[in-house]
Amino acid sequence: MSEPLNDQAMKDKKREQQFTQTAYDLLDGRHHGAIHVPIYQNSLFAFNSYEQFEEAGKELLSHHVYSRGNNPTVQHLERKLADLEQAESAKCFASGMAAITSAILSVVEEGDHIVCVRQAYGPTREFLGSYLARFNVETTFIDGSTIDHWREAVRPNTKLLYLESPTSMLFQLQDLRQCAAFARSIGAISIIDNTWATPCFQNPLALGIDLVVHSLTKYIG
Ligand SMILES: Cc1ncc(COP(=O)(O)O)c(C=O)c1O
Repeated sequence: MSEPLNDQAMKDKKREQQFTQTAYDLLDGRHHGAIHVPIYQNSLFAFNSYEQFEEAGKELLSHHVYSRGNNPTVQHLERKLADLEQAESAKCFASGMAAITSAILSVVEEGDHIVCVRQAYGPTREFLGSYLARFNVETTFIDGSTIDHWREAVRPNTKLLYLESPTSMLFQLQDLRQCAAFARSIGAISIIDNTWATPCFQNPLALGIDLVVHSLTKYIG
């Protein structure tokens, strides 16, 4: 049994804690009962020991180490979005374009071919047509309103069918179920930008699409 602390020792201990206590120590896992998940604005998270930090590094997705990777507020949003889209999981980025380019880059490599709707969001077309072309990834832009357009555009090296339905500006539609089934039949991945419809009106994953991307500053927000 340790000796009870006298008044001065108690004060010193408290003072010491004021310096050493971190947000991590204070976190009770329920965000102190806050009704809404608070906005965590920190970049780094502290650990009680170096060993704990090392363990966390082995499984970054289930720990909070650095906010660009995993942040409690963003993680909450990701869970909500996954539920709304009936998805296994979701990943948030700093912008819709960051989500779109990351999704596309996760699928293609040098020498691959992409088929994309002509009326997709402008910067997406720019990324596909100009940036990816520099890395020998070619994109064919099509109307996409009938499955025949997709059938005619694919090549043996087509890796990705990129949809946006309704499209930007003209609100043209694609048949999601048919496109998803066709992509699967040729061993390609299908991605859709679901920004316009939102999961309130359209659940692309339930129709067989592989990946859904959003710009959260639009209707869903
Ligand atoms: C359909 C669509 N997709 C993607 C984006 C890009 O999103 P962000 O501006 O968040 O990069 C936009 C933005 O207007 C959009 O309208």
